[in-house]
Amino acid sequence: MAKKILITGAFGQLGEAVVWELQPHFELMATGDHLPEKYLHLCEVDSIDVTDRKQCNQIINSFQPNVILHLASYTNVDGSETNKELAWNVNVKGTENLIISAKGRNLKFIYISSDYIFDGENGPYAEDSHPSPVNYYGRSKLGGENVVRGGTVPWIIFRTNVLYGVASHTKASFVNWVVESLKARKSIRVVSDQWGNPTWTGGLAEAIKMAVILDIQGIFNYGGAEFLTRYEFAQKIAKVYDLDANLITAISTDKLNQPAKRPLKSGLKTEKIEETLGLRLYGVEYCLRKVKEGVVA
Ligand SMILES: NC(=O)c1ccc[n+]([C@@H]2O[C@H](COP(=O)([O-])OP(=O)(O)OC[C@H]3O[C@@H](n4cnc5c(N)ncnc54)[C@H](OP(=O)(O)O)[C@@H]3O)[C@@H](O)[C@H]2O)c1
Repeated sequence: MAKKILITGAFGQLGEAVVWELQPHFELMATGDHLPEKYLHLCEVDSIDVTDRKQCNQIINSFQPNVILHLASYTNVDGSETNKELAWNVNVKGTENLIISAKGRNLKFIYISSDYIFDGENGPYAEDSHPSPVNYYGRSKLGGENVVRGGTVPWIIFRTNVLYGVASHTKASFVNWVVESLKARKSIRVVSDQWGNPTWTGGLAEAIKMAVILDIQGIFNYGGAEFLTRYEFAQKIAKVYDLDANLITAISTDKLNQPAKRPLKSGLKTEKIEETLGLRLYGVEYCLRKVKEGVVA
């Protein structure tokens, strides 16, 4: 019998790829706080707000999952500085609601975390690097990790960074922003001092599928094969989409005056997940071509 997977935040950027990738192999219940108007009927869907423990309890009781894949998160990094309570409620309390509701059941909990739990002084980071978030979003993601690690339910924590992919339901997509701006011949400024290994959502979805099948446990980093700055990433987007890269200007993060401080020298080392799952990581141009073709996963 196929494993039953309850997905929260299923209609976000990562959720879209995860539903496509997992749907042929597992019985899914895809949930989010708002159901999108146009949703492909690949699996059962429902709306749950993870900040409501009763709703978490009800869905776990009725669906009886073997795995909870917790993608739901308040992901607005600058917004988290001004809406601290909301960020904590969704990212920490929401996780706690699911963990408490899952207690005593025979299931695995998968939590998606971020390189923003690190300070960006000396990345890329390994799984055992010391967390030290420099902004509230990072603190709340670390708070979510701690809830998962402190519970009694077996768990996997996937840490990832700079996600991109086909994003039909989400407004917040770096690739879409670059492509739409350059298509409209609009000049854009992109930071050249923030490093990471941008991650195609389709690749991470594949790793999650294998992690469920092989029933692994612990903390794992997952990121793309190349380390580069946001500016270099934007240049690659322009190249793959055949757009004018001269419209992209490099700037430094301090010129942006963003409410949330950013970890600069960040990114994630990926040897552990590559060895554990026997995975091949993908390069940026290959993944961008997939996204351009509309390949979700
Ligand atoms: N994006 C990145 O670069 C990145 C990097 C590292 C880690 N991550 C992590 O990866 C995971 C997926 O991120 P993503 O990029 O797919 O983010 P996303 O597109 O913002 O998706 C998050 C989803 O969570 C939903 N959500 C928010 N509050 C909720 C609540 N109270 N109850 C139920 N659902 C709620 C959102 O729905 P609404 O939009 O309708 O509120 C949204 O669909 C998150 O845990 C994030 O922290 C992301």
